[in-house]
Amino acid sequence: QWKEDHLYSIIILGASGDLAKKKIYPTLWMLYRDGLLPQNTLFVGYARSKLSVNDLQKSFEANCKVQPGQEGKFQEFMKNNIYVSGNYDKAEDFKRLHVALDEKEAKVKAGNRVFYLSLPPFVFDVATTFIRKACWGTRGWNRVVLEKPFGRDLETSRKLSEHLKGLFKEEEIYRIDHYLGKELVQNLITLRFANRIFGPSWNTHNIASVMISFKEPIGTQGRGGYFDEYGIIRDIIQNHLMQIFCLAAMEKPVSLDAEDIRDEKVRVLRRIKPVKLEDTVLGQYIANPDGKNDDERTGYLDDETVPKGSVTPTFASVVLKIDNERWEGVPWILRAGKALNERKAEIRVQFKTPDGDIFPDDDAKRNELVIRVQPNEAIYLKMMTKTPNSHFGIEETELDLTYSKRYEGLVLAEAYQLLFLEILRGRQMHFVRADELEETWRIFTPLLHQIEKDKVKPIQYKFGGRGPPEADDLAADNNFMYTGTYKWPGHGSK
Ligand code: BG6
Repeated sequence: QWKEDHLYSIIILGASGDLAKKKIYPTLWMLYRDGLLPQNTLFVGYARSKLSVNDLQKSFEANCKVQPGQEGKFQEFMKNNIYVSGNYDKAEDFKRLHVALDEKEAKVKAGNRVFYLSLPPFVFDVATTFIRKACWGTRGWNRVVLEKPFGRDLETSRKLSEHLKGLFKEEEIYRIDHYLGKELVQNLITLRFANRIFGPSWNTHNIASVMISFKEPIGTQGRGGYFDEYGIIRDIIQNHLMQIFCLAAMEKPVSLDAEDIRDEKVRVLRRIKPVKLEDTVLGQYIANPDGKNDDERTGYLDDETVPKGSVTPTFASVVLKIDNERWEGVPWILRAGKALNERKAEIRVQFKTPDGDIFPDDDAKRNELVIRVQPNEAIYLKMMTKTPNSHFGIEETELDLTYSKRYEGLVLAEAYQLLFLEILRGRQMHFVRADELEETWRIFTPLLHQIEKDKVKPIQYKFGGRGPPEADDLAADNNFMYTGTYKWPGHGSK
């Protein structure tokens, strides 16, 4: 699939930053180690600090987890690395980068460039301008990769989109939402459209409610300064959970082409009205004096990087309704929180109970299809069965596709690995298009503005718990039934 006489340069802008050290370089190393990248790949670090390749190596090597026996391969990987130091707001510095790339590309038939912006948002504008004006390759394709935040609200996001549109074609822009790189999120399309069994029941006639949740057992861990600017709605819900939502709620795309899929995502988003404060529960975690480590004993407001008296939510639950024929009346509950009791991301589709129930005492409980995104990836369908050997007792059980059992020994690729390969292949299916972004911001911006303007006080919840009980009430009021009578056997396993 790769062209042997091409050079593929992956340029990491912000090479000395946190994301580059923790995620990007280790991902590139793993892809290199596993022989998944084109033979001629050049890794180019760009940042302001004056560093040698050796210094750069020191900054990320520990995160690469090089195993005994892989040292030689790692050295080989490092030999394909170069580093250029420069500013993000100086055309001449980008020109130097361009010259360095040109020199390498002169030896081959064509040179392709991936510009990965691992940069703070306030330099997005200048950096992209100079990439386009002073560093654009002329002997192959160019692609620009961006990570959130894509603005703070509809207006700022639109501004950024307009700016990018003035510089690049949409097919040159790869907006990362790393949840789109997760196996179980990608599986939603297969699950829904390759199985006859789900198609006819995937609608308001059969589904009572859907809950999409994200839980993390960690607090802000020193990232409070960044987090406080954004809050949980911008950090998780407007992007990661909305992407999952789109794949679960959209109509069947005309084909598996990226544009057809993204068209359907936009279409379903357009049928949602902006979220209202009364359909929302907001929370903020406080210290748990009995916590088992410092993190747990530190409340959000105790974090020194968080402004005093901040009302930024670290937990939110919101209800969306889709005004279309398929989903009329079905509540979609999107819930995300930091400092909770576990790490978990999942989609829970609750089906209505059978009509004309013949079992006494409402014994037939709702079927629930659970797509466990992480950890312990699984798809299981909670269903009723006859209690073995009983006369006609019925009980809850499950059909269970737990990946670690069904695909024993298989290591699932990390989201970033998969996404990098998609960028190199030029496939945009798992990236966010400008109009999707615009729609998700339209849905959340009025709520975000109201929270900020009215300084809406979040409900306090203790680090390590389930979040504010009011969120459970919101779910119950929206036809999400929790009976507590069933526990999935895979629950809690990593
Ligand atoms: C990031 C958020 O986008 O996703 C973080 O900014 C969050 O706050 C992270 O911790 C979660 O990603 P994952 O892949 O660990 O679930």
